[in-house]
Formats: sequence, structure tokens, C-alpha cells
Amino acid sequence: MRSRTPTVKLKNARKHSASSQKWLLRQLNDPYVHASKQKGYRSRASFKLLEIDEKFKLFHANARVLDLGCAPGGWLQIAMERLTKNGAIALQPGQIVGVDLLDVDPIPNVTIIKGDFLDPDIAANVMSSLGGPASVVLSDMAASSTGHASTDHLRIMALLEAAYECAVTVLEPGGAFVGKVLQGGTTNELLVKLKQSFKKVSHFKPKASRKDSAETYVVALHFKGQASNAS
Ligand SMILES: C[S@@+](CC[C@H](N)C(=O)[O-])C[C@H]1O[C@@H](n2cnc3c(N)ncnc32)[C@H](O)[C@@H]1O
Repeated sequence: MRSRTPTVKLKNARKHSASSQKWLLRQLNDPYVHASKQKGYRSRASFKLLEIDEKFKLFHANARVLDLGCAPGGWLQIAMERLTKNGAIALQPGQIVGVDLLDVDPIPNVTIIKGDFLDPDIAANVMSSLGGPASVVLSDMAASSTGHASTDHLRIMALLEAAYECAVTVLEPGGAFVGKVLQGGTTNELLVKLKQSFKKVSHFKPKASRKDSAETYVVALHFKGQASNAS
């Protein structure tokens, strides 16, 4: 997506600190922020999942989706559009489940749980809220940055590891897993596990993911089934 809007300058720039000026300018001139507003998406992140789905074809009819780190709900909206064929089909209870530390405005017929997915009780509640085995497990979970690169990397890897463990517990055979990682991809240890559990494992950085962000996504397709991760 190219920006068709002219570069917007900040009014009353002096009212803002240097860092908030930078953030505001980036938002004002980001074509994905404009497009999200036009389409009624809650976050520009929606476009990342749209690109991932366009390339990897994640969702099928009657799919069941778990979204880890779902606030403010941009990925839930895409899952909802795909599963309901833009509103033509009703969602079943437990067909889309999301969890986040933050409050998420409700979405009709989507189960949203507030809590820390690293808390075993919350994780158990999330998994049992699914109406059956999942077809797709998504994790866009990211802890807020500490500014210390190796600490941030460890924290995001802990979230990815938890998401992977969840995926191999709840996915149906043939299911898919998408997880946020930092540049450099997954650790070798997790990559070995992913390749053991899924037939195809790729890394993909959507265009909507900012170039200056270290984030990228691991996409694992065709879950081999529970037996593959019994080691
Ligand atoms: C990049 S945002 C997700 C954006 C979302 N995919 C969307 O489309 O709107 C990352 C989210 O992960 C959540 N998160 C981070 N750690 C978490 C944890 N331990 N448990 C649950 N959510 C977590 C954060 O609160 C944050 O809302």
C-alpha cells in the first residue's frame, strides 16, 4: 500500500514532547492507519493478518480460531470477516476466542478473556473456552519494550514459546499457527520443535509491519497432530 495522502504536518508541534511529536507524525502519515479508519478496523495490525492470510490461506469454512494478545481486536475482526464470510454466516459459540492483558471492546459472539496468558489458570480458561479443537492459533503477543534489546528478545520468545505449547495442545490435525517473533526469527530450539510438529514452517514480514520494527512472524502450517509433539 502506497501513501496517497499528502504529507501531514503537525499543528501546535510545540505543545508535544519530541517523542510524542515523532509518534503523532508517524500516525498522521501512515497509510495503514488511514485505511484502518476507512474500513472500521480497530488497529493497523489488521492489515498484517490480511497479508498473512492472503499468502498462507489460514482460514477455512467452519474454522475455529484462538487469538493470543488480541487487543484492541484488529485480528479478531479479520477472523470474524473470514469465518462469517463478511457477515453471511453466523458464528458458533467458542468459534473465535481471544485473550489479552488489556480490556477489549466486545465483538458479537466472540469470547474475549482478560488476563495474562502466561498464568496457567488463564491459559486453561482460554483453551477450554474453545468450542472444540482449533484450526488456527494466532499470537501477536508482545510485551511492552524495556528498551534493552536482549531482555525484549527473551520476553517475546517466552510469549512465543507459550503460544507454541498452546497451539500443539489445541490444534486439530492440519491446523495452522502464526506467532510474532523478532528479527532473526525463532530460536533454533523452537524452530526444531515447530518443524517436528508442522509440515511447513516459514518466516514472513508483512508489508504492513513497519520497516523499522524488528517484528516478523513465524507461520507454521499443516499441524501433524498430537503424536508429533510427544517427545
Ligand atoms: C501488538 S498487540 C496485538 C494487536 C492485535 N493483534 C490486533 O490486531 O489488534 C500485542 C498485545 O499482546 C498483549 N500481551 C502481551 N503479553 C501478554 C500476555 N502475557 N497475556 C496476554 N496478552 C498479552 C498486549 O497487551 C497487547 O495488547
